[in-house]
Amino acid sequence: MSVDLSTYYLGLKLKNPLGVAACPPLTGNLDMLRRLEEAGASVAVLPSLFEEQIEHDELEFNRLFEYQSESFAEALTHFPVLQEYNTGPRDYLKHIEAAKQAVSIPIIGSLNGSSTGGWIRYARMIEEAGADALELNIYFVPTDSDMTSADVERRYIDLVAKVRQSVALPLAVKIGPNFTSLPNFAQHLVAAGADGLVLFNRYVEADIDLDTLQMKPDLILSNRHEARVPIRWIAILRDQLKSSLAATSGVHRMQGALKLLLAGADVTMMASVLLMKGPTMLTTILEEMHAWLEEHEYESVEQMKGSMSRGNCPDPSALERANYMKALTNYTMEHPAPPSP
Ligand SMILES: Cc1cc2nc3c(=O)[nH]c(=O)nc-3n(C[C@H](O)[C@H](O)[C@H](O)COP(=O)(O)O)c2cc1C
Repeated sequence: MSVDLSTYYLGLKLKNPLGVAACPPLTGNLDMLRRLEEAGASVAVLPSLFEEQIEHDELEFNRLFEYQSESFAEALTHFPVLQEYNTGPRDYLKHIEAAKQAVSIPIIGSLNGSSTGGWIRYARMIEEAGADALELNIYFVPTDSDMTSADVERRYIDLVAKVRQSVALPLAVKIGPNFTSLPNFAQHLVAAGADGLVLFNRYVEADIDLDTLQMKPDLILSNRHEARVPIRWIAILRDQLKSSLAATSGVHRMQGALKLLLAGADVTMMASVLLMKGPTMLTTILEEMHAWLEEHEYESVEQMKGSMSRGNCPDPSALERANYMKALTNYTMEHPAPPSP
């Protein structure tokens, strides 16, 4: 029996539920993008274009423009420097066009920022460059004790609403897991115009260098146990949200991807495991997923998606506080290693 692995995400039909998350060494490189498609990826999120990159570029642009117009009067009619001036953001738009030519899977552009500044106009440019959808990664770290959780959430919601106004593209919003009431906040993001949520961004945590006594940000790749966080929240959110849901963080094996789909994800997005083991991991996971579905008599991914969401699972208390108490009090020294996603 052949199992239909296709799935819908942001209104796009994907050939299977394995996508590549935003990651420069993976989706920022055209050869790698082709290899990922060949290995089975159904969608790719391009690396983010950052608010800071755009703002920096703007400053440079203005500086050059002023220098040019002060130095050479006729430059205002020719703008030779400006024509040749190849900026980060402009390269980004070119990369979208090139990626669309290089592969036939949907290409999602990514903007990464936290304030509602002029940089948002790049959303429209990403649309015009031919992206199939836009992922907005909002990464804001509140450090001021005067800022309330409502202030933080308002910032996210305003940003989503502003980006929504400027594009007709399907819009996914990527957030971290640290919100006081994620179900309520998620509803507001969807009401502000998000067609999908990407759960969850991984924060790059700072570390302290004991030799130099410097605080240094350090990117550590994920491990497969981290999929537990999106599994829980996707299961809780699935029945309460009409939007698409993408899972990212800790998807390393077939088991983790399947659990996320059972919880209610429409697609799972990978980065770390592909960096560690290469694009062929996608082929392995797809084959194993197909075999599992066949063995468990599923006809399609659509059929099993969300069948273990909070509303559908036999014991929803496992997702809540009761499970926490049971897990702590039942733990023994002989406890077996936890089964991993
Ligand atoms: C090297 C690297 C670069 C990344 N760059 C971006 C990025 O530009 N934009 C973004 O939204 N996420 C970025 N991410 C986060 C990934 O898209 C992904 O959501 C995260 O790593 C969790 O997935 P994983 O557990 O499979 O790694 C990056 C991750 C890695 C490891």
